[in-house]
Amino acid sequence: MAEPSNRPPRAELHVHLEGTLEPDLAFELAARNGVRLPYADPDALRAAYDFADLQSFLDLYTANMAVLRTAADFADLTRAYLERAARAGVRHAEITFDPQAHLTRGVPLDDVVAGIAGVLARSEADLGVSTLLIAAFHRDKAAADALDVLEQLLAMGAPVAGIGLDNAEIGHPPGLFAGVYARAEAAGLRRTAHAGEEGPAANIRDALDLLHAERIDHGIAVVQDPELLARVAAEQVPFTVCPVSNVRLRAVPSLAEHPLPAMMAAGVPVSVNSDDPPYFGAYVDDVDDAVTAAFGHTRDQRAALAAASFRGSFLPPERVAAYLADVESWRRAA
Ligand code: ADE
Ligand code: ZN
Repeated sequence: MAEPSNRPPRAELHVHLEGTLEPDLAFELAARNGVRLPYADPDALRAAYDFADLQSFLDLYTANMAVLRTAADFADLTRAYLERAARAGVRHAEITFDPQAHLTRGVPLDDVVAGIAGVLARSEADLGVSTLLIAAFHRDKAAADALDVLEQLLAMGAPVAGIGLDNAEIGHPPGLFAGVYARAEAAGLRRTAHAGEEGPAANIRDALDLLHAERIDHGIAVVQDPELLARVAAEQVPFTVCPVSNVRLRAVPSLAEHPLPAMMAAGVPVSVNSDDPPYFGAYVDDVDDAVTAAFGHTRDQRAALAAASFRGSFLPPERVAAYLADVESWRRAA
């Protein structure tokens, strides 16, 4: 990890809390909860992090969640991510969690939310990282199930700033969730959605038009549709891109062939994010380093990516402005 002072202040907008589970913590929680993981030790688990596609990752990611049972487990997971993110220079994090993944295992929603929210409430004071929480729904489950969970979150007053849509994209188009997103919008929640990760560019257009998504997670398929690319640039739709994830899940053959430069050149406000850091061997500082090296980014380009991370956030405008001033100070302090 390079010196923090060599990095611009930045936000991380696309990180799955369950995807931040380090093998060491997985074994610690397994022991605490009497859960048996089918690996000899953390190194053996880490050695299994070799993925053919999104589904092969989702299978392992979901299986490992078995160790997350109590509010304390979710608190430990959240704290571990935030401590590492702070060291990476993250000043603001929008953290996604998958409520259905825990409800289906019989873990009460109250415990999940209490464990996460208790740590988030203190993270700015303790670590200097402001946070927002996003509840993502599984697009490969029924929309009625997502709506039911959304109603539970609203009824319990969960401190959720927005909703997302994740899990297996192919065969599960955004339009199925129009009612869920309309309910969230009516309740004043912000809206993001995974689209165009493994699926087609049409999923990005549908997320914007049918879900009223305010930003797009991944969205790399946008470069296959010049008209849509021009539109999202004109409308300044933020895209939370995860280049190392895309390589590790074989959505793109290599970092050098990643469409990030094409998206930036078209004027799309892209930010760079980690997605599921231990699974892909890269926290967001590592991703930044890889991207800077692969594309030879200048200090101005690095500052532009950092600025886009704050502009694409769901923070109020005055907080965005304060963070942007910090990015500008970094840019000028060559
Ligand atoms: N859940 C965790 N990581 C994901 C990804 N990259 N795509 C879809 N769902 C996910
Ligand atoms: Zn993701």
